[in-house]
This record gives sequence, structure tokens and C-alpha cells, in this order.
Amino acid sequence: MPANRQIATIHKAAELWTTVMRGGEAQLTSIRDAALAVDKEGRVAAVGRAVEFKNQNAESSIEVIDHGAGIIVPGFVDTHVHCPQIDVIGCGGYPLLSWLDQFVFPREAKFSDATVATDAARRLTRELIHSGVTTAAVFSTSHAAAADILFAQFESAGLRLISGKTSMDVGAPTNVLQSARADIEDQETLIKKWHGRAGRLFYAITPRFALSCSREMMRALGDLRERHRGLYVQSHISETRDEVETVRSVWKDAADYLAVYADHGLLGERCVLAHGIYLTDSELDRMAGSKTSLAHCPTSNLFLGSGLLNLKRTLAAGVVTGLASDVGAGTSFSPWATMLEAYKVQAIQGNPVSGAQLLYLATQGGADSLALGHETGSLEVGKRADFVVIDPARRSLLSERLAAASSPEERLFSVITLGDDRVTAGVYVNGLSCHA
Ligand code: GUN
Ligand code: ZN
Repeated sequence: MPANRQIATIHKAAELWTTVMRGGEAQLTSIRDAALAVDKEGRVAAVGRAVEFKNQNAESSIEVIDHGAGIIVPGFVDTHVHCPQIDVIGCGGYPLLSWLDQFVFPREAKFSDATVATDAARRLTRELIHSGVTTAAVFSTSHAAAADILFAQFESAGLRLISGKTSMDVGAPTNVLQSARADIEDQETLIKKWHGRAGRLFYAITPRFALSCSREMMRALGDLRERHRGLYVQSHISETRDEVETVRSVWKDAADYLAVYADHGLLGERCVLAHGIYLTDSELDRMAGSKTSLAHCPTSNLFLGSGLLNLKRTLAAGVVTGLASDVGAGTSFSPWATMLEAYKVQAIQGNPVSGAQLLYLATQGGADSLALGHETGSLEVGKRADFVVIDPARRSLLSERLAAASSPEERLFSVITLGDDRVTAGVYVNGLSCHA
């Protein structure tokens, strides 16, 4: 049932998956022999069975792309990933705070060199595209030029980006620190240049975490947000017990960890905090009440031995939640891998989640976490045509497993379990193909 929108392109595939939240439960919509029609503005014009588009197929002005045995899914949203940490993936042996000292800060210091920053930004967009990620919230480093390079790279790669320079003035070597004054000056320039550009690049105030920012820095960041309504905020919270204890001893005047950010006006819609494993009931309630969202990073939490997020509790509190790779503590850019580890983290706590719920978290949940849920995250008429085509034949075991599956849910869980970047056959943002 093609709608009124003028169709520019029709993508045909063996199957199409998208999710919807109904009665508090994520549900999978599966369409066999599907077609996704995209209009001239790059929005979804119609979704349905391919046979319903017969007349349009014959129109010469409409391009028809047949993806054969492919499966179309909404573009993935990575709600928290660190660009400079592409080169610390797999640096093991330490918990969070020592891991930052041992590997992360020395690596991030190298981003004062534009060549290093350019090379990493290129490789990040390549990995995200190969993994089917169409929207990402990315940490750069404290160097303004590195953040500028990152924005430029995402602009040319055609992806959606939320990013900003990382603000830090304490708790790390001086070569990754910057005074609050210089930091704000740099941010004003970056905001002017990038926030809202091309309708898909947005600026995020990025206090690394409570242990990287002095009171003066936090106050300056709160003032910056006040001056520029509509900016994003991204940070970390309650990732390890040791970190929570240290924050308590450094920020004695704050009621709890969340209060450090709340007291400086940094919470609310368009604020996304990563991890949150050790949040109290009160903190979860206040996150939900303020519409502050959570980035769940299962591969990172397992790799650093940080702990197990109780997703059921987080969602029951009403906190908008998405999935994130958190590379380089995270071990894979692939949302399929992140979904599988998210499943295991819940299963081991006795709360296994459905494939539909996992796909929802990796797409619509992530988009909602970044206040972009009205634009991307599912394949619905009027939304941006951000989608991924996967080709199961690129992995024999997966196509064999799919052939043996008897329901869409079983097929989806097979891809969650066996899928990776090898099966990505096409990635589209605003209906346009992204190339690494
Ligand atoms: N907390 C503060 N900085 C970081 C970081 O770079 N990675 C993770 N996983 N946690 C953090
Ligand atoms: Zn992180």
C-alpha cells in the first residue's frame, strides 16, 4: 500500500524486520518478500510486501534495487563509543580506573597530532558502516582539532553523529587536560560550526565523568548548556564500585553520583549516561523523571569486569535505554555482538530477554535515548530511510541456521547469535548508500 509520498527508490528483499513497543513489550514485525520504498527526501514512503508495489515497479522514474535473499533491518544506533579507543581494544588485565591510566590516557594524548586523529576517525566510520551503525554518539578527546576532524569525517561518511570534545581538567596526565576557560572557548567554536549541520550532526557537551572535572569545569559546562539550549550531554556514571566510592569521596557535597551532574544542570532530554550498573533506586527514578537516558554497554562491562546491569530494573524504573559498544573497553563494533552479550548479561541474572527486545534496544531504544526516535530507529512511513541490508549467505553457518528456523523470532535470534560485520551488505542513511 504505497502512500502519497513520491517514491524515488524501491528496495526489495527476502525479509524485512522492524520493531514496535506494544503494551510495554517489544514486538517484531516481519515481512517476507518485502519492499521498502524511499521518497526523494530520503524518507520511508511505504513498507509492505513486494507484490503490492507491482505498478510502481513498472514506472521508469523509480529505481528498483533487488537485494535478493537479503534481510532489511533499521539502521543501528550505537549510543556510546570512543573514537580514540579503536586502538586500545583488547588491552586487558585492569579494572576501569587503572585501565584508563595504563592504556586510555596515553593513547588519547596522541590525538594532539591531526594525522593520528584523522586516521582514527576514518577507521571508526569504516567500522561503524561495516557494522551497520547509522547513528552514533561518539567521544573524541580533549583536543578541539580532533573533535573537528571527527565531525568532518562523519559529515563525509554520511552518518548521523552526536559528539563533542571531551572536557577534563583533573584526574589524568596534563597532556590530556585542558583548563575550563580554554575548553569552553573551543567548544563555542565547535558548536557554531557543527551543531545541527546537514540535519544529522549534533554537538554534545562531554564531561568525561565526575572524576575528570573540577567544580569550576562542571559549573562552566552547566552554563554552556544554559546558553545553548538543545545541545546534547554525554558522560559516564556508576560503572564500577570503586569509581562510585571514589566519586563519593571527591564530591562530598553531592547527594550521590547522579547529583554531581544534576546539580550542574546537565541532566534531561538529550543527556545520555553510559553504564549505570550501580545506580540506586532514587537515581534511576530521577533519571527517568528528568528523561535522562542510559547507554547499556554489555561487552565493555564484561571485558573490564565492571558488573552486570539489571536491565529489567532499569526499564521498570522507566529509564530510556539503548545499547552501546563502548569501544575500546567494549570488544566489538557489531550491534549483533552487543545484542548477544546483552542477552547473556540478562540471562545469567535469570531474566532472559527476547530477540525483539534486543533488536528494539539496538535500534528504536537507541534512537529514543538520543532523542531521535521520531526520525530513525524503525522502518515507518515518514521516518528517515536509515536501514541496513544483511546478506546471510556471506556466512554459510548463518544461512544454514536460518533455513532450519521455523519462525521470524527464531530467525532473528539466529542472526543475533551468528551475525557480524561479514553479513552487512548495504548501509543507508536518508536513503543514500554509505561507503567506508
Ligand atoms: N569512565 C571514564 N572514562 C571512561 C572510558 O573512557 N571508558 C569507560 N568504559 N569508562 C570511562
Ligand atoms: Zn565510555
